[in-house]
Amino acid sequence: MVDLFEDLDPPQRLLMGPGPINAHPRVLAAMAKPLLGQFDPKFREYMQQTAALYRGVFQTQNRWTLLVDGTARSAIEAALVSLIEPGDRVLVPVFGRFGHLKVEIARRCGAEVRVIEVEWGKVFTDEHLKKEISSFKPKLVAVSHGDTSTTMAQPLAALGKACREHDALLYVDATATLGGMDLQSDAWHLDVVSAGLQKCLGGPPGSAPLTLNDRAEKRIARRRHVEEGLQDDRYKAGEGPIIRSNYFDLAMIMDYWSDKALNHHTEATTMLYAARECARVVLQEGLPAVFERHVRASRMLTDGLKAMGLELFGDQAHKMPNVTGVHIPKGVDGEAVRRRLLLEHNIEIGTSFGPLHGKIWRIGTMGINANEKPVREALSALGKVLARRAPG
Ligand SMILES: Cc1ncc(COP(=O)(O)O)c(C=O)c1O
Repeated sequence: MVDLFEDLDPPQRLLMGPGPINAHPRVLAAMAKPLLGQFDPKFREYMQQTAALYRGVFQTQNRWTLLVDGTARSAIEAALVSLIEPGDRVLVPVFGRFGHLKVEIARRCGAEVRVIEVEWGKVFTDEHLKKEISSFKPKLVAVSHGDTSTTMAQPLAALGKACREHDALLYVDATATLGGMDLQSDAWHLDVVSAGLQKCLGGPPGSAPLTLNDRAEKRIARRRHVEEGLQDDRYKAGEGPIIRSNYFDLAMIMDYWSDKALNHHTEATTMLYAARECARVVLQEGLPAVFERHVRASRMLTDGLKAMGLELFGDQAHKMPNVTGVHIPKGVDGEAVRRRLLLEHNIEIGTSFGPLHGKIWRIGTMGINANEKPVREALSALGKVLARRAPG
């Protein structure tokens, strides 16, 4: 019989998958702090601090740096539904599952989408992307920085400039990389960037930091509408088509985060505390030190896996330092190994999707788990589980 009234007492697992990972203890402590009303001056101050902290994390001066309440996907959807007007041309380079997600959302927004693909485990060359932009002339390019499904990171430094030359906006999904890998929103001319907390930022899923620059603001502002119950006498709607989602309407979310504090949703108090603490933890360590720690952890993991005779997945020159794909050896039941790691060693590693399902495991080294001790524990447990199934 299921005991509905048992106390909540989840097992202590080491989460070494592609996210969520174990939240930093400081983040969990921040989430236990007292709630405040959404218009309490102290809470508004916390919102402003959160925006300022994420400017540091995103490496931007963008005024509009805020949280979308929801998992990382909510900010992807908010960006795309607010930037894409029906009929707009949108180019989506797909190098894994999360590229396909952006294709699907862009199509729901009524875009004319051109999909370009490379084999999973590879990334695009700058030349390939530039050629597609100049031939298709999209209004928007929507791309993942890192795709956790393949562990690859697309180089972005040249893409923003190419988009500007052709007057396209560039949206970047940095869910997998923010706080774990260098991402220079301003220097690389990224117009809109969004993420989630549950990977390198070391928080729980449920809040999605997003930043947008003046170019993106211009496109969104022409679609600004205010809900009928909130309009005053001076209100004049934007001349552009209304954004087809209320919850994900970035113009409304910007009004809420602005000094106008125009009511939209009720900010998720506890998640804002969490997001704020994630950024503080990362910035206090310092971005270069954080990135270097992720690289060290990744190297330790990949060296350990190779020493066990396992083969790494994908183009290693473009692998993210925060997640590693490793081929499941022939004759090994990948799911049985994952189950044993979880139930016998309290360690979670990731499965994989689509063409890679059943072929690779994905092991994360993110946030506080990008450290020697968790990596050593994961390697040692995997070694034991694999050794037990070896013949003889
Ligand atoms: C690159 C990328 N984008 C989007 C997502 C979706 O994030 P969420 O599950 O928080 O909505 C993920 C999650 O793994 C991801 O890796």
